[in-house]
Order: sequence, then C-alpha cells, then structure tokens
Amino acid sequence: MNAHPPADQPDPLAAFAALRTPEGAALLEELRDHDPSQELATATRLRRTHPAALVSAALGQARLRQRAVAKFGAADAYRMFFTPNGVEQATRTSVAAHRAGRFAALGVRGVADLCCGIGGDAIALARAGIPVLAVDRDPLTAEVARANAEALGLQGLVEVRCADVTEIDTSPYDAVFVDPARRGGRGRIFDPEAYSPPLSWATGAALKAPRAALKIAPGVPHEAIDPRAEAEWISDGGDVKEAVLWFGEGFAPGAFRATVLPSGATVSSDGPLPAPPVGPVGRYLHEPDGAVIRAHLVADVVERCGGRLIDETIAYVTSDAPYASEVTTAYEITDQLPFNMKKLKALLRERQVGVLTVKKRGSAVEPEELRRKMKLQGPHAATVFLTRVAGAPTMLVGQPVERP
Ligand SMILES: C[S@@+](CC[C@H](N)C(=O)[O-])C[C@H]1O[C@@H](n2cnc3c(N)ncnc32)[C@H](O)[C@@H]1O
Repeated sequence: MNAHPPADQPDPLAAFAALRTPEGAALLEELRDHDPSQELATATRLRRTHPAALVSAALGQARLRQRAVAKFGAADAYRMFFTPNGVEQATRTSVAAHRAGRFAALGVRGVADLCCGIGGDAIALARAGIPVLAVDRDPLTAEVARANAEALGLQGLVEVRCADVTEIDTSPYDAVFVDPARRGGRGRIFDPEAYSPPLSWATGAALKAPRAALKIAPGVPHEAIDPRAEAEWISDGGDVKEAVLWFGEGFAPGAFRATVLPSGATVSSDGPLPAPPVGPVGRYLHEPDGAVIRAHLVADVVERCGGRLIDETIAYVTSDAPYASEVTTAYEITDQLPFNMKKLKALLRERQVGVLTVKKRGSAVEPEELRRKMKLQGPHAATVFLTRVAGAPTMLVGQPVERP
C-alpha cells in the first residue's frame, strides 16, 4: 500500500473508514449479491444517492468479499473486510483453524502473530481461545485486521498493532507465529530469503520463543528446512495449501508430517524413510494426497498397505489387497495397456465408457486432448492413469473404490 497517496487519489484509510459508517455498511449490504458484470450500471445508479468515492470503495470491497468466500466461507466473508493483497495472502479458515488447534492443544496462552495481514490466522487463534497480538506494518492492512476482529466479535482477544515485526518484543508471549509476505511487486517469491521478513529472521524469532510456527510455501526445497523444525504440509479438499515449520516444546524436530483437511487425518515420520520397493501393478492403485507426496511420506503409504511403487520415480502405490485411508484414494485396476491411444479407444468403446477421468503422473499428454480423441460414448464411467510402470509409458484403467 502507498502510505502517501497522490493528492488526486483518496486516502485509503479514509476510504476504508467511510465503509464502516452506517451509510457504508448499508451500501455493502446492498451490494452483497450484486452481479459483477453489471458493475458499471450499479455504480451509475448508486452515485445518484451516494458520494462517488464511497460507491467505488464499496464496489471494490464487495468484489473482494466475493473472492474471499472461497477461503472464509460466506458467513464470515460478508462480515469481514479485505484488501486485494490481504485476501490473496490470507490463510484459509480450515488451515488456520488446524494450526490454531495445534497451539491450543499444547496449552499456548498467548501468540504474537507477526505479519498478521488482514487477520486470517489471528482470527483462528482467537477462536481457539488464544489471546493474540497481531502485527502488520502496513497501516491499511492493520486497520482491516482490527475491523475484522471487531466484526467477528473477537476484539477482546485480538490486539492489533501497526509496526515493523522486527521491532516487536515477543518475550511476553509463549508462542510466535510468522507468515512472511511472499509476493513482491513482480509476483510470487520463491527464495525464502526474499520473503519479507526473510525466513532466516523468522527462524531467529521462532527460536527465541518457547513455541513457534512459520508459514512457508508448500514448494519450499527440503534443503531449506531447518533441522530443528517439525515440517508439516497441509492440504484441503485435495490441494496442498501450505507448509508450516513448528519449533519448540511439543513438536518433533526433523519430523515430516502431512495433514489432510477436512478430515484432519495426519501421517508423519521422524526422518527420511528408506526407499520403498518397486514392483508390478496389483489389483489396487493408491493415489497419495499431495501433502503426503510433498512431505516425502509415500514410502509410509507403501508400508501401511503392504504394497509397492509402480515405478521408482512415480508416486503411485499398488497393492494386491484392498487398503483404505484418509490420505490416499484407492482405485481398482481392470486393465494395463502399453501407451497406445488406439488400444485405449478400442477398450473404452468395448466397455461403453462415456465419462472418462484422466489422471497423469510422468506423462505429457493433455487430458482434454485425450478425452477428445477417445470420442467417448456410453453409460459407464472409468478412470485412466497415464503414467510409467517400471520406466515404460503405460495406461492403467480402473474405477475408484467406494469408501465403506
Ligand atoms: C502473508 S501476509 C499475512 C497473512 C495472514 N497470516 C492472514 O492469514 O491474513 C504477510 C503480511 O506481512 C506484512 N509484512 C511484511 N513485512 C513486514 C514487517 N517487516 N513487519 C510487519 N509486517 C510485515 C505485509 O504487510 C503482509 O500484510
């Protein structure tokens, strides 16, 4: 944010304050279900009865709220306030609640949330009953975080301070949480030292506190992970959302963990696992959740199901006996073909497959293109895996196993 806007632009803090007046609140309520494609007409109509600056701030906020529903759910999103960066960078409720739950389970009594943004994590911590000092150096972002704590009735548990986190004394708190900014002017930042503040500063802050959590990108190279941390990858609805490094009492240094939301199922290892066996495709194929793959825990799945990998470089696990878990999706394999489009087309025609799910690992084929070429027809559904088996491009056809 620009703290000193040019004279012809409204001061962002004043524009935000106007949204919190009764007139602003009424406008936001009116815009709740507005159709974004009609924005121009809506703006023209509203400007007849409201100041133009307020109308444009309200329309902008209404757009952000609509975007925020995916992360916060409608009930919270339409009570909260956002900035464009704030909604982009905020932790989704499911993940923030999981993390807050781990702190709460250890009896944490106060968290310094360093880099609080619009308050995604601070809200979850407060809802877990933990008092929070929420710090952000951007004045508008801090103001939005304060408004959000108030809007959700959490102002008694969340103290928001607009400051640079490097100047905060965290000694009164028994835990620290740091979620550095990972976007610069030119998009996402991949080098952890280019985070703001850098990961090395965050690690230093973490090590000073009795307990700490640092949010990092899920694609972080494993070499960048501090050996004193427990690293956890978290997925929600099948997508890996983030990784978090836990430090201090109650966490396992060097351990890798994968947690799958919404079930909360979790698997972990104390350190690197031995390479799993590789062998022929059995009756079942198991697709590990992305968090399991990122946490290098596929070998754990192999062991649990008494199976093997289909290829040493591919994260598909196979077994002869059925196996079900919250961190894997199981398929019963009916056919194994060498990679050959004509043969697949003939097989799908014979089986009257009209709906085909395409999964791929280790193949460059585009699923849409494959589906088009298959000219699917018929009442049945099937799944095809485009992958490699013992190094050879292969197609496996099967069905998801129904969960009991
Ligand atoms: C990834 S966002 C935090 C998102 C937040 N956890 C949430 O769930 O809403 C990072 C925030 O760090 C703030 N920030 C970056 N460097 C900072 C610093 N040195 N001191 C204070 N805040 C900082 C940015 O203004 C940004 O709002």
